[in-house]
Amino acid sequence: MSHSDRLQKLLNKLGDGLLLLPATKESLRNGDVHHEYRASSDLLYLSGFPQPEALLVAWRLSNKTHRCLLFVQPSNREREIWEGRRIGVRGAVRDYGADEAYPITEFWQRLPDLLAAQTRLFCTLGCDEDFDQRLFRVFRSLAQRNRRRAPAAHPELIDPKPAIAELRIIKDAAEIAALESAARISAAAHLHAMQVAKPGMNEYQVQAALEERFRSQGSVRNGYPSIVASGNNACILHYTENRRKMSAKDLLLLDAGAEVDHYTADITRTWPVGGQFSPAQRAVYRVVLAAQKAALRMVQPGKPCNAPHRSAQRVITKGLVELGVLKGKPQALMASHAYKPWFMHGTSHWLGMDVHDVGAYEDERGRPVNFRPGMALTIEPGLYFDARDQAVPKELRGIGVRIEDDLLVTRTGHRVLSSDVPKEIREVEAACLSGS
Ligand code: GLY
Ligand code: MN
Ligand code: MN
Repeated sequence: MSHSDRLQKLLNKLGDGLLLLPATKESLRNGDVHHEYRASSDLLYLSGFPQPEALLVAWRLSNKTHRCLLFVQPSNREREIWEGRRIGVRGAVRDYGADEAYPITEFWQRLPDLLAAQTRLFCTLGCDEDFDQRLFRVFRSLAQRNRRRAPAAHPELIDPKPAIAELRIIKDAAEIAALESAARISAAAHLHAMQVAKPGMNEYQVQAALEERFRSQGSVRNGYPSIVASGNNACILHYTENRRKMSAKDLLLLDAGAEVDHYTADITRTWPVGGQFSPAQRAVYRVVLAAQKAALRMVQPGKPCNAPHRSAQRVITKGLVELGVLKGKPQALMASHAYKPWFMHGTSHWLGMDVHDVGAYEDERGRPVNFRPGMALTIEPGLYFDARDQAVPKELRGIGVRIEDDLLVTRTGHRVLSSDVPKEIREVEAACLSGS
């Protein structure tokens, strides 16, 4: 689907009114150095426009047509010498589907006229205080301008995000191709990392090997910061320090995904740095793998999206009893969520342009939404036994395992997009040793 088709679909969903979608702001790192800029996924989804200081305005003319304006950084020879090329006003019309484009500096003076004929405004407040204040000032001036007609003090304000999320949750053919490509590149890089990781290396050196493969296969950036967590660091779910020196006895938990055409993979594998799981590591890994497989089986169209988590919880609970962590009847332990101290996160999340992609998990009555073809998600149970955890048998302390795959819901079931990277114990050990 083209950007323009997506915009039309959104405007048909929202109905009459004016849509305002500002670009994410740049974020300063220090002095005149910014953090790497990545446009908001909503703006990329609806226009593809990738540069900062931009704003999309659109409204519906009929069920088949709409008008789209882009306000952008204008071309500026001097600034472009320092900061890079700008798409500019002409580029916005030529390459990004705008019917008209203007310098961003003209936005606030043009907005009252754009809003004058509208009774509804689709815009998300609360992200940028300065933007909100300026918008309120425009409302005040409009109310003044129209006071003889006793208008409402401001247009009806509606957040467009839920409607955008409803569109984004179902991936079209081009989006699926990007996800497949991100998963394929990421899987190959994970396998490479398994082969090169050796005792004595620092976590960031494994990160470098992994990300070199991301880049050399065509991914320009990661979908999120790589988590390269050895030993007890694996018990920090979003660990990104990646500084520790690894030893032969460690497991390494690697959670990383390449971004391709703005879509990201999100894959985790956990493997023995020395090439062979210890008995305790193997026992924990087996439980997580069984939970992951049970959860995968639940991903089918028509099944509720919490079914994978329920299956994983059951297998993990039973496994915790077998590992000597929990005592009692699995059913009662499940009911009291006794597994929570060691399996404290969900089993899945939507996946797409954002690693934790947009999309509801529950309907307005609080019931889980059902899987539908075109949805993409992760399946990622884990078990984490912190080194200081006195509640678990000694041999389990300092072991953290997560296994995460990326799935696409199909008409008949699902497809695992990340299956190129091994997860069976024998295959994982073979991959680790094949790099020696
Ligand atoms: N990489 C973050 C997550 O797995 O959710
Ligand atoms: Mn994930
Ligand atoms: Mn992950």
